[in-house]
Amino acid sequence: MARDHMQAAIVLAGVTKKFGAFTAVNHVSLTIPQGEIFGLLGPNGAGKSTTLSMLATLSNPTHGNAEVWGFDTTTQKDEVRKNIGMVFQDYSLDDELTGFENMDFHGRLFGMTAEERGKRIHELLNLVDLGEKANNQVKTYSGGMKRRLEIARALLHVPKVLFLDEPTIGLDPQTRRKLWDYIAQINKSQGITIILTTHYMDEADALCSRIGIMDKGEIIALDSPQKLKAKLGGDIISLAINPSFHAPATAALSEEKFVREVKPFDHHLNVVVENGAYAIPKIMELAQKNKWHVDSVSVKEPTLEDVFIHFTGKSLREEEGDEKGRMRNMARMMGRR
Ligand SMILES: Nc1ncnc2c1ncn2[C@@H]1O[C@H](COP(=O)(O)OP(=O)(O)O)[C@@H](O)[C@H]1O
Ligand SMILES: [Mg+2]
Repeated sequence: MARDHMQAAIVLAGVTKKFGAFTAVNHVSLTIPQGEIFGLLGPNGAGKSTTLSMLATLSNPTHGNAEVWGFDTTTQKDEVRKNIGMVFQDYSLDDELTGFENMDFHGRLFGMTAEERGKRIHELLNLVDLGEKANNQVKTYSGGMKRRLEIARALLHVPKVLFLDEPTIGLDPQTRRKLWDYIAQINKSQGITIILTTHYMDEADALCSRIGIMDKGEIIALDSPQKLKAKLGGDIISLAINPSFHAPATAALSEEKFVREVKPFDHHLNVVVENGAYAIPKIMELAQKNKWHVDSVSVKEPTLEDVFIHFTGKSLREEEGDEKGRMRNMARMMGRR
């Protein structure tokens, strides 16, 4: 039986996942209300996919427990599965089959009658603008069309909650934006709660009513994108400056009244100030006086990237290009075959 707190779509309580001695997800607690588009934002290896796989009943937490739509993900797997749709990070369509056939196969797995399948499949293919391609082999589809088909397929059995693991990974910017429209539209028109993971901050910003920023298995910040950015406040002055000057410059700038925060990362110092126009000449004066070599200066309003830097001291993009992370992922994918 579902419990009574039905207003929550997802509840995670102290969820931890270990692989041997390695902790991939570390004591995550989180409640996601019905109807939300919630985003888990974080770099490769943060533990996003592992979290989704536990919610989707594909693996059990080492500690803690999780509920989806009031059902426990370890003791009520069947009930959870009936209520969720999942789009995996890795491609999972049969290229030789048509769009319709890929959907139909999935419907059979869920025990839908031929009549139910026929009606619902056409509805959903139209929803993602693939109605006219229904009878074409999937190998003729573009990357964006394939992703839309995967999303339509995940909606076939009328789930309450839809999980999207990196829905736009590897797609070009224009196709990514179009896919955001579909995702937002599905949330609105079907009233479906959507949990997505992404390492794209613009995606989290554009789509999600709330996001959890995840790093090293932990949720390090949780709020709406607007509030997360507002917490940093003011303007950010980014100084391209040799790392050998980071320590003295951080110390000197932190002394200044107009400086709220100084965050060194990579070859930059991010200086959070009330008013960029006022602060830049002051900062340049200090740089000249102390002979810090500043290569360039830019001012911007905070982005989620800055929020990430604020909480972790490193950049999301830095992690994105992390060679070790890519090798790990490749090794895992090979191991899966
Ligand atoms: N089956 C597994 N065995 C061992 N380590 C794993 C396994 N699955 C994931 N990991 C590790 O757990 C960490 C989190 O992985 P993952 O959840 O895929 O991160 P993300 O989706 O945020 O990129 C990574 O360091 C990854 O290598
Ligand atoms: Mg992942």
